[in-house]
Amino acid sequence: MFAADALQDKTVLITGGGSGLGLSMARAFVGFGARVAITGRDADKLRGAAGEIDATGERIFTHPCDVRDFGQVEGMIAAAGERFGGVDVLVNNAAGNFLAPTEDLSPNAFNAVVQTVLYGTFHATLAAGRQMIERGRGGSILNIVTTYAWTGSAFVVPSAAGKAGVLAMTRSLAVEWATYGIRCNAIAPGPFPTEGAWQALMPTPELEREAKNRIPMRRFGEHDELTNLATFLISDAARFINGECVTIDGGEWLASGGEFNGYTRLPREQVKGVMRQMRAGESSPARHRRRDHRRHHRGHQLRLHRRADPYGGSGAGGVLRRPRRPGGHPACLPSST
Ligand code: COA
Repeated sequence: MFAADALQDKTVLITGGGSGLGLSMARAFVGFGARVAITGRDADKLRGAAGEIDATGERIFTHPCDVRDFGQVEGMIAAAGERFGGVDVLVNNAAGNFLAPTEDLSPNAFNAVVQTVLYGTFHATLAAGRQMIERGRGGSILNIVTTYAWTGSAFVVPSAAGKAGVLAMTRSLAVEWATYGIRCNAIAPGPFPTEGAWQALMPTPELEREAKNRIPMRRFGEHDELTNLATFLISDAARFINGECVTIDGGEWLASGGEFNGYTRLPREQVKGVMRQMRAGESSPARHRRRDHRRHHRGHQLRLHRRADPYGGSGAGGVLRRPRRPGGHPACLPSST
C-alpha cells in the first residue's frame, strides 16, 4: 500500500497508544519507518505494547500520562521530544466513553468523559503544538473523532459533546496554525472492533448484530483500513490536506439519515418487487386515483375537441384546440361552455 519508508523521517506521538486502534496505528507507523511514542495511563500496558511492536526499543518510546492533567501531558511531550529530537505528528486517540441515559448521568460522569476527550485532546495539542512551533519545522495533528460529532447520538451525550468540540478544534487550528506549517485533520471511524470499545458500547450480541445491520456494507471496519488512512493523512503524500475530516464507516452515518434508507435492511428482492408493483400501478391507491383522474380528463378533453371541431371529426387537421382562457386550462373548463 505504502513504501516501507513512507514515514521514515517522522516522530509520531499517539495518545491512548497502548491498546485498541491506538496500538494498531503505532504498529503500522513503525512498520512504515516512523519513530513512535505511545502514552496512556497504564505503564505496564504501554511496556507490553512497546515490546510487541519493536523489541529492540529503537523506534518506540513509552511514557505514562493521564491526558486530563496538563502538567503530565507537558512532561510526556517533552520526554518524547528529548528521546527522538522533537514530535512531528500528534495523533489524539485517547478517549473515554460509556452508554448511559443522560438523565442518569452525574455532572462528574459528564466531566470524566469530556475531560478525557476534549480537554485531553486540547492538552496534547497545546503542548505538542507549542513544541512544533518552537522547532519551526511544521508538523501535523490527527484527531480521532466519530460521525456522531455532527449527527449527535442518544446515550453518549458526553462523548458526542466532547468529540464535536474536537472537530471544531481541528478545523479552527487548521486555519490558525497553517502559518506554522502545522496541518490539522480528523478521522471519523464507524465501529472498529476493539476490546475497550466493545466492552463500553456493544454489551450484547443482539446490539452487535443491530450495529452491523446499520452499516450498508454489513460489516465492521478492519484495523488496517483505518491505519492505512491514518498513515496517508500524516504522510507527506497528504501535505495539502488541512482541516479535513475523513469518515471511514462503510456508509453507516449516511444510511441512518436518508428517509428511505431503512428499505436497504429488507431483502432486496422484496423491495424490488414492491417497487415494480408500484410502477405498474398495482399497489398504490394514490396512483390509482391519479390514473383515474387522468383518464377522466382525457375523455373530457376529447369531448370538448369534438364539439369545437367545425368539421366534426378528429382526422388529420380536424381537431381545433380551444384557445386558452385566463385562469384555466382548456381541459378543465366546464363542458357547458
Ligand atoms: N454510567 C454512568 N455513569 C458512569 C459510568 C456509566 N457507565 N461509568 C462511570 N460513570 C461515572 C461514575 O459514577 C463517576 O461519577 P460519580 O463520581 O458522580 O459517581 C464518573 O463517571 C467518573 O467515574 P470513574 O469510575 O471515576 O471513571 P474514570 O475517571 O475512570 O473515567 C472513563 C471514566 C469512561 C472516562 C474511563 O473509564 C476511561 O477513560 N475509559 C477509557 C476506556 C474507554 O472508555 N474506552 C472506550 C472508548 S470508545
